[in-house]
Amino acid sequence: MILTRRLLACVAAALLLTNSVAARPAYFDPSLPIDKRVDDLMSRMTVDEKIGQLNQLFYITQFMKPEIIEPDLREGKIGSLLFVTDPATINRFQKVAVEQSRLKIPLLFGFDVIHGFRTIFPVPLALASSWDVDLVERVQTIAAREASATGIRWTFAPMLDVARDPRWGRIVEGAGEDPFLGARIAAAQVRGFQGQDPASPGRLLACMKHFAGYGAAVGGRDYDAAYISDAELYNVYLPPFKAAVDAGVGSAMSAYMDLNDVPATGNAFLLRDVLRNQWGFKGFVVSDADAVGNLVTHGFAEDKADAAARALTAGVDMEMSFPGNAVSGTYSSSLAKHVSEGRITKAQLDEAVRRVLEAKFKAGLFENPYADESRAASMHNNPEHRKMARIAAQRSAVLLRNEGNLLPLDPKFSSIAVIGPLADSKRDIRGSWSLADDMKTAVTVVEGIRAKVRSGVNVEYAPGIDIARSYPSIFELFFGPRPAAWNETQRREEFEKAVTLARSSDVVVMVLGQHEEMSGEGASQSTIELPGRQRELLEAVSALGKPTVLVLINGRPLDISWAVNRVPAILEAWHPGAEGGNAIADLLWGDATPVGKLPITWPRSSGQIPLYYARNLTQEPENKPGFKSRYWDIATSPLYPFGYGLSYTSFSYSNLRVSKATAKLGESVEVTVDVENTGRRAGEEVAQLYIHQRSGSASRPVRELKGFERVVLAPGEKKTVRFTLGKTELTYWSSAARGWVQEPATFDVWAGGDSTATLQRKFQITR
Ligand code: BGC
Repeated sequence: MILTRRLLACVAAALLLTNSVAARPAYFDPSLPIDKRVDDLMSRMTVDEKIGQLNQLFYITQFMKPEIIEPDLREGKIGSLLFVTDPATINRFQKVAVEQSRLKIPLLFGFDVIHGFRTIFPVPLALASSWDVDLVERVQTIAAREASATGIRWTFAPMLDVARDPRWGRIVEGAGEDPFLGARIAAAQVRGFQGQDPASPGRLLACMKHFAGYGAAVGGRDYDAAYISDAELYNVYLPPFKAAVDAGVGSAMSAYMDLNDVPATGNAFLLRDVLRNQWGFKGFVVSDADAVGNLVTHGFAEDKADAAARALTAGVDMEMSFPGNAVSGTYSSSLAKHVSEGRITKAQLDEAVRRVLEAKFKAGLFENPYADESRAASMHNNPEHRKMARIAAQRSAVLLRNEGNLLPLDPKFSSIAVIGPLADSKRDIRGSWSLADDMKTAVTVVEGIRAKVRSGVNVEYAPGIDIARSYPSIFELFFGPRPAAWNETQRREEFEKAVTLARSSDVVVMVLGQHEEMSGEGASQSTIELPGRQRELLEAVSALGKPTVLVLINGRPLDISWAVNRVPAILEAWHPGAEGGNAIADLLWGDATPVGKLPITWPRSSGQIPLYYARNLTQEPENKPGFKSRYWDIATSPLYPFGYGLSYTSFSYSNLRVSKATAKLGESVEVTVDVENTGRRAGEEVAQLYIHQRSGSASRPVRELKGFERVVLAPGEKKTVRFTLGKTELTYWSSAARGWVQEPATFDVWAGGDSTATLQRKFQITR
């Protein structure tokens, strides 16, 4: 009897299961092509449900309660959430969407996975200093693995804004000033995040941002308008974005600021003409946070409803808006009305919805919506990831100066003074956008040095001074405010303590620079001065005449002109990430050799800004006899040129050759150069190739980077490096021709270790 009852129950359950499977709509069938699945799903959606898919909201655990948004999730009013970083909450929300909403469309969870997620890697400007595209790809592969295990399937990276003004705080988030280097790093990041397929395990959908021109903010002031000529846009600001599109990036974020008076988020030229029509971008576009609503603030849209209509028609598919409920966004509050009144056609709405749904299908969310909580847990303190973070930090550092080969430090030094406000700060070693890691696991410089030195060596630390922003940062919301400023007595005593410590030590490691929230978003600075009394401290310590190494922890070039003739060794570490302290110690004691090169020109002072190497020639070029300087009070040249960086060994370049003296339009020219390690240690060099087009329909920059290769060389070893200059490298956007041109002209070629390379050849392009 019991058996029969059980049997009946089984049959009933099996029937139910068959029914529910049979009842599952076609869009759940993974064997159908994605466009058919999207068609099927869209045919079942109401206008409100469609608008829901275009709505993305912040959910910040510290400030919100799940109950606020769950009813909206149930009603299908939200398509995506950002800033949820714990897998349990992600699964909780996902369950509401996929089990309790009418159409069971999964949510897409996004986050700013910029330079790591649980494991923090060096900041992007630092990673770019490695000029190592494989490294960058590997780093972003790990970041993707960690974030996707948590249920985050979409990163708001890579940030591809070319930046030529170091006052702009967000310079730290990008690859620096150069379109060629920027494009190579952009493609590597997309490959790292997305792999062959963003749906494959451990990968994420990437989002190139901020489209476009954000880095050219007037005065380097964050969010300020940018005025960029078409020639500059195509030749300088867009190439990294184009490279990301060519690498298959799945989404794009529209920028905040006005571009030539039209806000990027309402800019059809950018979002339709360039992105879709010229480049054939097939992914979807999300606005930056509240950028649609802010079309009103800009004085562009009349009201929020007008803003929604203009952003959508310009090409913004999804709106990112600040916390609240589903109707806090302008799309949610006004698109339905626009559709019913005909201002937005059904086809326009469907176009945006289709792109978002396509992305969700492509990301595999319908098959695999949940985070694996146990896998997510294994991403904390993963030793393999930490190892990579250490290597990345070693390879991102740039050695700026090393007089008398002070570095690597002599292991005989038996007392070491580590001095400076950043030397023992876990918060600051990581850098901007470190929001989901465990800060306690970050290794400071003091900790790294203590772990490195042999027993019996005394390592003492003194901060010496405190530093602070004059106006607080929005990111203090996450970590709390900085400790209160010291009072006068503390100031005097701490300063004195640091100098006394330096006096009694064999060697001094000064760690100066900036707090993590002194660069990044909302972190523009009016000058590039070292904040606070850092220079004074450096002067006081240098006056002691001890062997002194200056280690910089920062997110932008700083005015260190005073130091470059007085402090024998200077190592730019940027914000090197969670393993930063260990990596710095490795470099200081020679367990790693510096290989980084500056991805940005380093000005002597704020007054030189903007300063970049690929500028146009004037009637008074620097090599003209009698040329003094363009300013009468300061040299025209930078403190350190673009591409510059020393090693513990030295390299020499010779035998620069071009494969032909003359080539026809469209033909390639091969360039080769020999690089030799002329020092006594093994090392690695970034051989760089620059060109200049001597005449044409428009003036061309004095130099442009068109190739770079890493070469590993044993002492005395020599290798030949090859570059190809093809049609792409010799083509530019001419404002005279109003289009892309390759022109017959004479080209200069230089090869060397930085943008001031002197080894030169030329070739001619003819019709
Ligand atoms: C930033 C974006 C970021 C977004 C989400 C905005 O304020 O400009 O870069 O992706 O916030 O965090």
